[in-house]
Amino acid sequence: MQLRRAARVILVGAPGVGKGTQSERLLQRFPQLQSISTGDLLRHNVKTRTPLGIMAENTIKTGGLVADDLMLRLISGELRTRGWLGGDGPVMTLASEATTATGSRDADDFGAWPLTAHAGAPAPSDDPSASFILDGYPRTAAQATTLDDIIPINLAVSIKTPFSVILERIAGRWVHEPSGRVYNTTFNAPRVPGRDDVTGEALVQRPDDTEEVYRARFRRFQETSEPLLEHYASKGVLLEVEGLSSDEISPKLYREFEKRFVG
Ligand code: AP5
Ligand code: MG
Repeated sequence: MQLRRAARVILVGAPGVGKGTQSERLLQRFPQLQSISTGDLLRHNVKTRTPLGIMAENTIKTGGLVADDLMLRLISGELRTRGWLGGDGPVMTLASEATTATGSRDADDFGAWPLTAHAGAPAPSDDPSASFILDGYPRTAAQATTLDDIIPINLAVSIKTPFSVILERIAGRWVHEPSGRVYNTTFNAPRVPGRDDVTGEALVQRPDDTEEVYRARFRRFQETSEPLLEHYASKGVLLEVEGLSSDEISPKLYREFEKRFVG
């Protein structure tokens, strides 16, 4: 289905609530959308041993939140690389190429990045081809305020599912690291066990999906999500979607996207 207006969407929800799953489905239904998962980007940086990845690794392993300044570098670099910031681009000055999912940036550049945030975002493009979903950013009110200065969001979706339901899913999650495609041994099993449906490559389990680390991630979410959601509620762009499963949530999301960005 074709979008008529640019969708600049963030997904907020507890770890394992299905942000990645919903992003994939939305991308299939609305092909103009693209998505960025900060978790996937971080894991890529850890794997390829970029300076940012090395700095973030321990925080991710223990279920903490990566520092705001690192996240800002990561996300603004990615937005710029994808050309979504319009005009001369971002409100930050980055001396070198940004970190990308393909890890093209030279590791030594990292320390040299001057970082200057200016107040006030440039007007974003309303072209539907500049539509995106941010999965996992912002995660704190402070990150949301920073993002406002880079690019204004026009829909913040809060996905809600009970804790007990989510906890069960985490143990069954398998991911295809290069693409971020997510499977679950009970709910969305790959056609061949342990193999990605599209490439046939091996699936892996995430090191932060142990119960102990999961609980730490969940606690962190509880501490930070309320002020984050208030930030978007006060701007009139918050949408809360509840459900016991992704199958219950997806149709609600499709309807909202159609209402806001198609009709
Ligand atoms: P990130 O990778 O974003 O992890 P998260 O927020 O903890 O979320 P998840 O990816 O675990 O879950 P999801 O909601 O995408 O669920 P999914 O679709 O996979 O972040 C990882 C770390 O990076 C953070 O802990 C932090 O350290 C750092 N980080 C990232 N962003 C940051 C930021 N902005 N600031 C600071 N630090 C940051 O679904 C889960 C499972 O459930 C899957 O197996 C799926 O198949 C299954 N499932 C989905 N729907 C259903 C269903 N209906 N029934 C059964 N199973 C289902
Ligand atoms: Mg995810």
